[in-house]
Amino acid sequence: MQSTIALSASTQYFLDLEEKYGAHNYHPLPVVLNKGEGPFVWDVDGKKYYDFLSGYSAVNQGHCHPKIIHSFIEQAQKLTLTSRAFHNNLLGEYEKFITEFFGYDKVLPMNTGVEAVETAIKLARKWAYEVKGVESGKAKIIVCEGNFHGRTSTVISFSSDPSAYKNYGPYMPGFEAIPFNDVQTLEKALQDKNVAAFLFEPIQGEAGVFVPDEGYLTAVRNLCTEYNVLMIADEIQTGLARTGKMLACDHENVRPDIVTLGKALSGGTMPVSAVLADDEIMLTIKPGEHGSTYGGNPLACAVGITSLQVLRDEKMMENAEAMGVLLRDELKKLNSPFISIIRGKGLLNAIVITHSNKEAAWDLCLALKENGLLAKPTHGDKIRFAPPLVITKDQIMECVGIISKSLEILK
Ligand SMILES: Cc1ncc(COP(=O)(O)O)c(C=O)c1O
Repeated sequence: MQSTIALSASTQYFLDLEEKYGAHNYHPLPVVLNKGEGPFVWDVDGKKYYDFLSGYSAVNQGHCHPKIIHSFIEQAQKLTLTSRAFHNNLLGEYEKFITEFFGYDKVLPMNTGVEAVETAIKLARKWAYEVKGVESGKAKIIVCEGNFHGRTSTVISFSSDPSAYKNYGPYMPGFEAIPFNDVQTLEKALQDKNVAAFLFEPIQGEAGVFVPDEGYLTAVRNLCTEYNVLMIADEIQTGLARTGKMLACDHENVRPDIVTLGKALSGGTMPVSAVLADDEIMLTIKPGEHGSTYGGNPLACAVGITSLQVLRDEKMMENAEAMGVLLRDELKKLNSPFISIIRGKGLLNAIVITHSNKEAAWDLCLALKENGLLAKPTHGDKIRFAPPLVITKDQIMECVGIISKSLEILK
C-alpha cells in the first residue's frame, strides 16, 4: 500500500505555496484543481476527475451550472452589495421566492452555514424568553452527540469532537448533548421547562453519514410539539435535494420550526445561507438586533433564486434518489471485504473501511484520485460518496468501476 504518491512539478508548486503561506487548518488530498463542469473537475495538469465530495454538498447543481453562472454574471454587472442600511430591488423578490418555495412566513439571510446556525440559536433563545416564558439567562438547547454545525466558538462549544473544541475554551454554556437517533433520551431532556430548542441534523453528515431510524424525524416533531420546544433542523448539508427530497425532513413529511440552509443555495458560487421560520419566532428579533454586512446582498439573492429553480426544474431530487439507490446497490455488489458498511440516502452516502492499516481510507482516496475520482475520508475510516446531483447512470457505473479497481490497492 502507498501513503504518498508522485506529484507533478506544478502540483507541488501550489502545494508548497499553501504550506508556506497558508494556515495549516486543513489536510487536503494532494490535488490542485483549476476547472469544473457538472460532475467533473480538472487539475492543473489537465487530468479529469469525478468530484465525489461536491464541495461538501455546495455544488449539488454541478460545477459552474450555466444558469447559475449566468445569473451571477448578469447581477454582478449591475449591483452586488448595498448593505441593509438601504433596500435593494432583489431582497424582497428573493424573500418571497424562498419562503413560498419552502412554506415559511419569513427568511433571515446570512452568508456561511455556521452563521445560519448561530442565527437559529439566537432566535431560539429570544423565542424562549419572549414567547415561551423561560426565566432570563436559563434557556437551554438540546443538541446531538457527533453533531457538526460549523466552527464558531459557540458552535464548537457543543461539539463532541476534540479536534473541533480542544483548547478553544471557555465554552458557551446552555447546551446539552444527547445521543443522536435516541427518542427516549430526547423525551427526558425536553421535560426541562427551560429547554428552548432541539438542534439537530436530519442525517449526521460530517460524522460519517449516520441515517437515523425511520420514524425518528416524526418522533422528534411530536415531542417538540408536546413539550413546546422548537425543532431546529440543520439542513445545510442534507437539504437542497441532496438526499432525494428538497429537505431531508420531507422524507417523513415533517415540518421543523426553524430550518437552516446554506451550501448549495448558491450552487457553489459564493457563501449564501438562510434561516426559515414563522412570524412567532422570526419577529422576536427587532431592527438592529441581528444582521450581517453581506447578508441579503443582491448578488446572493439573484443566485439564490436561480439555484433553487435549477434544483426544481432539472429534477435533481428525483435524480439524487434514483442514482443513490443505484450507487449503493452497485457498491454492495462489489462484495469487498474492506467495505464493512455502505449507508446513505439519495446522493449523501458513505462507506466504512475496515482494514488492519489505519491509513487504509486515506490510501484508498489516493488510489481513487489516481484512477480519476476525488473523495475524502472523514473521521479516519469513513469515505463520503456525494457527487453532484447531475450525475448520470452511465457515470455512476463508471465510478463504481473506478472504486472497484482502486480497492485492489488494499489487498
Ligand atoms: C450540517 C452543517 N451545518 C453547518 C455547517 C457549516 O457550514 P459553513 O462551513 O458554511 O459555515 C456544515 C458544514 O459542513 C454542515 O454540514
